Amino acid sequence: MQTFQAASKPIQPLINTFKKLFVFPLNLSNILLLLARAALLLCLVASMLLAIHSAFISDPRRFILPRRTRTAVSEPDAHTSDAATNISHIVFGIGASVQTWEDRSLYTHLWWDPNRNRGFAWLDGEPRKTQLVPYRVSGQCSGPDYSCKSAAVRMARIVVEGFKLGLKNVRWFVMGDDDTVFFTENLVSVLAKYDHNQMYYIGGNSESVEQDEMHSYEMAFGGGGFAISYPLAAQLVNVMDGCLQRYHFFYGSDQRVWACISELGVPLTRERGFHQFDIRGKPYGILAAHPVAPLVSLHHLDSVEPLFPNKTRIDSLKLLMEAYRVDSSRIIQQSVCYDRRRKWSVSVAWGYTVQIYPFLVTATDLEIPFQTFKTWRSWSNRPFSFNARPVSADPCWRPVVYFLKGVQEVDTRGTKTSYERFVTKDEKVCDRQDYSRVMAVKEFTVSSMKMDTQLWMKAPQRQCCEIMDRGSDDNMWIRIRKCRKGETITT
Ligand SMILES: *[C@@H]1O[C@H](CO)[C@@H](O)[C@H](O)[C@H]1NC(C)=O
Ligand SMILES: *[C@@H]1O[C@H](CO)[C@@H](O)[C@H](O)[C@H]1NC(C)=O
Repeated sequence: MQTFQAASKPIQPLINTFKKLFVFPLNLSNILLLLARAALLLCLVASMLLAIHSAFISDPRRFILPRRTRTAVSEPDAHTSDAATNISHIVFGIGASVQTWEDRSLYTHLWWDPNRNRGFAWLDGEPRKTQLVPYRVSGQCSGPDYSCKSAAVRMARIVVEGFKLGLKNVRWFVMGDDDTVFFTENLVSVLAKYDHNQMYYIGGNSESVEQDEMHSYEMAFGGGGFAISYPLAAQLVNVMDGCLQRYHFFYGSDQRVWACISELGVPLTRERGFHQFDIRGKPYGILAAHPVAPLVSLHHLDSVEPLFPNKTRIDSLKLLMEAYRVDSSRIIQQSVCYDRRRKWSVSVAWGYTVQIYPFLVTATDLEIPFQTFKTWRSWSNRPFSFNARPVSADPCWRPVVYFLKGVQEVDTRGTKTSYERFVTKDEKVCDRQDYSRVMAVKEFTVSSMKMDTQLWMKAPQRQCCEIMDRGSDDNMWIRIRKCRKGETITT
């Protein structure tokens, strides 16, 4: 009795809190509140379980060897030739569901060209409206421990179902989510580098180390999209169902596909232009200092802030696409140069943004993305799978930033893009005199020749830029071009 009473004392406040939380008249708003709390609790428990699951992943996984069956080996595509890979050789498989497709197809509509693209959105049922993007309804499947009722299983089988359609002249199957935006011209440039008659698995992993740790560094994250060559897809067809059973405990469809490809012994070929965008906040830093590689995809655009200030997500993408359509290879490619007279540093991400510093900053720093974002899962400041530098709290250390305003074709071979400053009312501005001089630059003009897609077949190199004398105090003008032989940034 004594002990019971002693124990009940500290419990009493708990019970009171519980009563406050859960005992109330059952009106609509209280029920909604209760439901919201329950959902929150469920989410917390689910993410804890997931974390615990991954923490104990170090024990080796065991499995039962299936009976050996002789599977027919699919013939390699009889129509392959040595001609360069183009868009007609790619079959897209977009993982979608009827419930989300209506809203999210907006993203696919940004890049899908019905006259040039082949492939399907794979849905879990018939959509209500007519569709711009061709679709298929995923087939049923089930086996020990798995079923196509699970979205992850259904979507993992897209490459198999796509293969079984038996389309002609296919070299690559490219998977993406319904919220992936592909830059198809650049996708072609990347795939054209590889021999489609061999087994390739091409993509990128997550920006957030916590995601790579939880899933795998070796896997292509599905939202950024990945490409599977025809012969690899042919092998996957034979082993997929066994993999779905053996890896039924995995989280997503991309992880299941990776597991199956791992069994075949094919590693991931990383390409830096696939962007899963497992980040929160502004993607600005990544896009303003992209590696020297073509931009292939963007993802999670619903979760990050719009790419341009004072523009919606979709309008931002439309503006970026406008520049992309004029010079696809060059989109967001970075160039850096110095104004020797004024001792300024300039960094351009073509078709997106310009940064000017009224002092000289080393090229190695200019190449490091500003950390304008946080990690995906825990919203932390680090770590990322690449270097990022913090944005200084002191405006006198930050660059003055310009955003794309307009794109213009100059005859058929050249372009002119303009960039302007966007100032929010509450933005802190450095009041030093050198900053005022930069601030006097109202508009920034960049001229360049269109970049030859064939350049991506060669050794990568950042292109050079030079400050043109033609500019005036309020309009700075630069030209981007191939570097001359022996040219360096400081000479
Ligand atoms: C793509 O290449 C094939 C040859 O493999 C050619 O027949 C076709 O015309 C090309 N298509 C486009 C859109 O360039
Ligand atoms: C933001 O966009 C709106 C609508 O396009 C425009 O009217 C407004 O001037 C813009 N604000 C700034 C500060 O540029």
